[in-house]
Amino acid sequence: EAASKGGYDCFMLKEINEQPEGVKNTLERRIDENGNIVLDGIHLTKEDLDNINRIYIVACGTAYHAGLLGKNALEKYLKVPVITDIASEFRYSDNFVDEHSLVILVSQSGETADTLAVLRDSKAKGAKILAITNVVGSSISREADEVFYTWAGPEIAVASTKAYTTQITSLYMIALNFALEKGTITREEYLETIEKMKELPEKIQSVLDNQDKIKETAEKIVSKEHVFFLGRGVDYSLAMEGSLKLKEVSYIHSEAFAAGELKHGTIALIEEGTPVISIATQENLFEKMVSNMQEVKARGAFVASIAQEHNRSVEKVSDEVIYIPNCDDMLVPIVAVVPMQLLAYYVSTMKGLDVDKPRNLAKSVTVE
Ligand code: G6P
Repeated sequence: EAASKGGYDCFMLKEINEQPEGVKNTLERRIDENGNIVLDGIHLTKEDLDNINRIYIVACGTAYHAGLLGKNALEKYLKVPVITDIASEFRYSDNFVDEHSLVILVSQSGETADTLAVLRDSKAKGAKILAITNVVGSSISREADEVFYTWAGPEIAVASTKAYTTQITSLYMIALNFALEKGTITREEYLETIEKMKELPEKIQSVLDNQDKIKETAEKIVSKEHVFFLGRGVDYSLAMEGSLKLKEVSYIHSEAFAAGELKHGTIALIEEGTPVISIATQENLFEKMVSNMQEVKARGAFVASIAQEHNRSVEKVSDEVIYIPNCDDMLVPIVAVVPMQLLAYYVSTMKGLDVDKPRNLAKSVTVE
């Protein structure tokens, strides 16, 4: 087992470090000589796409969080309404899936019971089924009409890391190609975005090479009972993933909040020293985030923020800042999640816990 950890002390850390390669494999191996992404395994024609009036992205856990970001990309590029939902909720809801729906199931293992149930139910309703999975030959991959594989390599740690970044990469690739096919983006915009995506592995690597601030932040929160993650828009989806990572491997109670909702209740929980991880990577929401950070700081919170390098003004409302390289606002989650994964890893290790096998959790939930 030590050998398969490749010199790392646990699989989670190994898999966090494999993300530059995972994202690169998922993306670059699929770019042809003309700079186009080849969506192997997906055969939807322009006619099929024109027939789709609603997209559902359904998943569980971390894959659901990736799905929230997929919604942004599909709505932005393809201009079709997208609903992202949790499989265990969606399967029992009065949803509107029909023959004009595309249902995208995101699942690392391809075996999650609730996600598989949604697949079968949606198929019976005549929807087109597209699976994004990491496991070749899994149940979900076998039953879907279209399959797109994340080429993350095997993920062993219960807490998902490289599956998440490659799932987002996949969703963005799919959104871009569908949009080009449908004519909702220009070829220039398409090629420009692919060029920016190609820079992602290097940017992730730069986060991996600069962990001091992340370690310092971990030291500040390791003895705390509660941690709050705040964000708006894309950063709110990211906050959910950061919070999930921390709670599953460190057993610290953590919750993610849409920063604008603070005033509607959560701010009552902020007191002297309460740790708040504030994600402020989005240009159009940056000033709004800064004022939310001011609000919690004024009530004594310890604010650690995650921001793009160029947004130095975050320092005036933070006790600690973890900078990530400058990125396109749409692509930033693929980089900004990495410090949060590392934060969870460090806190877990500092507490002497089993990082790879958190209590009560399973890698793949094949029963309801
Ligand atoms: C479990 C795992 C998570 C994973 C979720 C969905 O809860 O511990 O890491 O995100 O299942 O799994 P899937 O294989 O469908 O992505």
